[in-house]
Amino acid sequence: MSTSTPPSVYNRANPYKARLTENYSLSSAGSNKDTRHLVVHLGESGIKYVPGDSLGVFPRNLPKAVDELLAQLKLDGATPVDQPTGPVPLRDLLTTGYILNRVSKKFVKGVLERLPEGGKKKALGEIVGSEEAFEDYVFTRDYTDVLIEYPVPLTAAEFLPLANKVAPRLYSIASSPKAHPNEVHLTVAVVKYHTHGREKMGLATGYLAHGQELNKDEIPVYIQPTKHFHMPPPDAPMIMVGPGTGIAPFRAFLEEREIDGAKGKNWLFFGDQKKASDFLYEKQLVEMQAKGLLTKFDTAFSRDQAEKIYVQNRMHENAGELWKWIKDEGAYFYVCGDAKRMAKDVNQMLITIAQEQGGLTPEAAKEYIEVTLAKTEKRYLKDVY
Ligand SMILES: Cc1cc2nc3c(=O)[nH]c(=O)nc-3n(C[C@H](O)[C@H](O)[C@H](O)COP(=O)(O)OP(=O)(O)OC[C@H]3O[C@@H](n4cnc5c(N)ncnc54)[C@H](O)[C@@H]3O)c2cc1C
Ligand SMILES: NC(=O)c1ccc[n+]([C@@H]2O[C@H](COP(=O)([O-])OP(=O)(O)OC[C@H]3O[C@@H](n4cnc5c(N)ncnc54)[C@H](OP(=O)(O)O)[C@@H]3O)[C@@H](O)[C@H]2O)c1
Repeated sequence: MSTSTPPSVYNRANPYKARLTENYSLSSAGSNKDTRHLVVHLGESGIKYVPGDSLGVFPRNLPKAVDELLAQLKLDGATPVDQPTGPVPLRDLLTTGYILNRVSKKFVKGVLERLPEGGKKKALGEIVGSEEAFEDYVFTRDYTDVLIEYPVPLTAAEFLPLANKVAPRLYSIASSPKAHPNEVHLTVAVVKYHTHGREKMGLATGYLAHGQELNKDEIPVYIQPTKHFHMPPPDAPMIMVGPGTGIAPFRAFLEEREIDGAKGKNWLFFGDQKKASDFLYEKQLVEMQAKGLLTKFDTAFSRDQAEKIYVQNRMHENAGELWKWIKDEGAYFYVCGDAKRMAKDVNQMLITIAQEQGGLTPEAAKEYIEVTLAKTEKRYLKDVY
């Protein structure tokens, strides 16, 4: 069994300023997505981690987002703002201290209070007064969008308490520290969308993909040790289901098993939109299969044919063997990636397979997968988000 992560002087309250040394797209021409491979160098920090851990990253806003907001606020970025440590230029505070890509509800309410009586105040009041309309309104807008629609004068001291403070984002680590000493590799899907006539990006993914120069000690990071998503004993078979960015921890698990010479069999289910453009880490995974490290490797490219094919369809096609690995050979079953739909459907497919292959009633199959396998035997582990 993997050892756990030793404590470090660096943590969420005291992050380490790490260096980005590589940043390239794993998606190729024709992809609808931009999924990136990032290498974060841990320098002399002494930070240790094990496969299954995540990296916490404190994001910052892109200069363009800060400039656009300052322009709408009609404020000078050089304006000093008093902080406990002394005065800090407004631009620096906005860049590192606040979430600027999604407007806060308290800001919209603050704008409403400041609007003069009239049609605009009435219109915004109706939005704020309806829970659903208010949710929709803030989901697609940033501060700049709101100020364009409802210009109100605000000083820096008035604006800042109305904005939400920055919070770190977690990324499943995609590297084995034995294969890449002093490095953390990440697999990051860049969030991009266009609303109200302006291009927008996810806060952390926009920053990591486009806002951080290489080789500068600037990214505040810390290890978030996993409580439960540990590798299995070296001889145990391991089944990994990781579509999209869900592949990340399994690249780490496989690299670690290769270096350790672990004897357990490895079965990977990977899926994404199109084989030609979205087969993340194709070369490395195909090599792992050729070497025999990947005992079995099934892929599901959802948009290469008229009907959707997902990882759980591949599980079903291989139901007999999958059940044998789990029931007779003591395999550990791992799933990583989208929590809302994919992980639920994979869970349901496991239950279906337990019914069909194990001859269990629907209730007994659910009990076996969700209680016996997951809780009692701890052989069904999830890293979903
Ligand atoms: C344990 C854990 C592990 C994770 N591992 C990974 C990983 O390996 N790789 C990875 O890429 N992510 C991973 N994530 C997710 C990651 O933490 C971030 O949530 C993700 O990268 C988005 O962050 P962001 O700051 O760029 O987006 P934010 O700015 O926080 O945006 C949040 C979400 O809102 C959506 N959104 C906002 N406004 C709109 C709009 N108007 N239209 C459409 N969508 C909108 C975006 O699609 C986005 O998903 C993990 C999360 C957890 C909890
Ligand atoms: N806002 C959106 O509409 C949207 C869409 C995609 C991703 N995202 C976000 O982008 C980020 C990265 O996503 P990702 O690369 O990890 O994965 P992803 O793009 O969400 O999905 C990877 C693969 O999983 C498939 N999939 C979709 N629904 C599934 C289900 N119920 N069961 C099994 N597989 C399913 C996808 O197929 P299809 O896409 O062909 O159905 C695709 O082939 C995530 O944060 C995700 O939330 C947002």
